[in-house]
Amino acid sequence: MKWLAIASAMVALAMLGMGVADEGRDASAPDGLRPGGTVGQSLPAPPMAGQSRESGREVLNYPEQPPVIPHNIRDYQVDLRSNRCLTCHSRENAVDAGAPMVSITHFMDRDKQVLAAVSPDRYFCTQCHVPQTDASPIVGNTFRTVDEVLTEALEREGGGQ
Ligand code: HEC
Ligand code: HEC
Repeated sequence: MKWLAIASAMVALAMLGMGVADEGRDASAPDGLRPGGTVGQSLPAPPMAGQSRESGREVLNYPEQPPVIPHNIRDYQVDLRSNRCLTCHSRENAVDAGAPMVSITHFMDRDKQVLAAVSPDRYFCTQCHVPQTDASPIVGNTFRTVDEVLTEALEREGGGQ
């Protein structure tokens, strides 16, 4: 009968826990990515952002930025057997596809040895390259391009003299 006592004690504890949780659920939700409502409330999901604007290649914000993807990549498979991105961006296919070839850095291993094929380090393209959507930013962003930073630094120097 000991197990019964333990089991009922556990059930009682669980119910107590649920009671506490129920009270907690009424708290208003943090006003972050999911604004408004209470913690326990299910709100309708916001609509999915529209795909890539197809606006052509974009200027880089700093020299080593992985360029953003200026086209739709929906259903482009990248797995062990196939890499859809390379059907257009590889050395052999780029010219025919009218796509920019992956740069020489993509053939280098971690020791900067140049390999014959795209390095495994660079195989999963979307680790670094991302398409753009028409979503409005969820949080503010104070990023400044390297040119803005340089111009400000030069102005400061000039002003200090
Ligand atoms: C059907 C061919 C095709 C496929 C498949 C493709 N791309 Fe592209 N990609 C292009 C073309 C063409 C451009 C140039 C677009 C332009 O100039 O407006 C481009 C541009 C880019 C650029 C911009 C390069 C720069 O210097 O601005 C990146 C990054 C890129 N693609 C990444 C990818 C990734 C990652 C994938 C796979 C998820 C992929 N692409 C699949 C054809 C393709
Ligand atoms: C580890 C991060 C990383 C991965 C993974 C990666 N790239 Fe890049 N890619 C970069 C960076 C950084 C640049 C810009 C500097 C450079 O060329 O190395 C770039 C540049 C490019 C460019 C522009 C080349 C040019 O000459 O303008 C293309 C196209 C591109 N990548 C396609 C791809 C494709 C396709 C894949 C997958 C096979 C891929 N990248 C995987 C980081 C990455």
